[in-house]
Amino acid sequence: MNQPGVGVAVTGTGSMVPATSLSNEGISSLVETSDDWIATRTGIRARCLAKPEETLASLATQACRKALDMAKLEPTEVDLILLATSTPDDLFGTAGLVQAELGATQAVAFDLTAACSGFVFGLVTAAQFIRTGTYQNILLIGADVLSRWVDWGDRRTCVLFGDGAGAVVLQANDRDQLLGFELRTDGTQNKYLNLAYHPEPKELLPEVTIGQNTFHPITMNGQEVYRFAVRRVPEIIEKALYRANLTVDQVDWLLLHQANQRIMDAVGDRLGIPAEKIISNLAKYGNTSAASIPLALDEEVRRGSIQPGHTIVASGFGAGLSWGAAVFNWAR
Ligand code: UT7
Repeated sequence: MNQPGVGVAVTGTGSMVPATSLSNEGISSLVETSDDWIATRTGIRARCLAKPEETLASLATQACRKALDMAKLEPTEVDLILLATSTPDDLFGTAGLVQAELGATQAVAFDLTAACSGFVFGLVTAAQFIRTGTYQNILLIGADVLSRWVDWGDRRTCVLFGDGAGAVVLQANDRDQLLGFELRTDGTQNKYLNLAYHPEPKELLPEVTIGQNTFHPITMNGQEVYRFAVRRVPEIIEKALYRANLTVDQVDWLLLHQANQRIMDAVGDRLGIPAEKIISNLAKYGNTSAASIPLALDEEVRRGSIQPGHTIVASGFGAGLSWGAAVFNWAR
């Protein structure tokens, strides 16, 4: 698509993680585990955890400010704020709080929930508003504070997750730099990874009983999710590249959801993408869910390794189960 002003360009990135870092040694004093087990099985060495007063909205807002600065855009010029998260401050939506903190008075703001695929799903969703000519300047955020919902007594899950936020600015552009994408969901496998609401019956009147309670911490069948990721992610990347009319050797950077280094290595192997093209920062942050892709993107852009015109294939996967891939050029 090359019509004037309805192409999509990624023109700014920003990220923010909480200041508190918990090392594998630290986590070994909470549950029976070790730095060696965690590092060997996952590649994770530490994770950042939000303090009680650190909100999802505040992390997201700080990431947005940096992304807007890079794109040289004022908050008041933003048309849409799309917040991909599974850990809202408010179940009615947290994007509005980000809009208020930013002072993005002209922006409509809403949340999108697709767990660790949220950023890629959000990228494609945001692109539709640009391609239809509806909006010109969009802030897309991937942010999660999973520490709120982790069972800190369950060593199978608590060692994996961390908190963080990443944001990108998407702008209308003559040249469309979102080159291809593919999204998938398989709800029949929802049981393998969830953060589910567990209702308790509450009788209001003899003939009126409702359910009221809260969400239970994250449960995951790690082996099933691992198998799913290693099989489905290479497949969907190949589909997205096909739609972009590109071959694997034309990819400059493979940017996967940061869940497990072994998954990233296996996906790279299957696709024939060498290790030096695979972006990885999960040693420092663990799995930050919807934040992991924009956080890693921002670090590499600021480091200067991602250069203007580079082709990036990003792929998110996780709860739903959901998975998706998007191929785009870095515009600046
Ligand atoms: O963002 C969502 C996407 N999520 C993922 O991508 C997660 C995908 N899955 C994984 O990354 C891996 O399955 C894990 C890292 C979660 C687990 O690695 P694994 O190699 O599949 O380990 P396992 O579940 O097969 O467990 C092997 C052993 C078990 O002990 P036994 O039964 O063999 O005696 C576990 O009890 O390791 C034990 N174990 C641990 N030991 C020390 C499990 N967690 C721990 C731990 N420390 N933290």
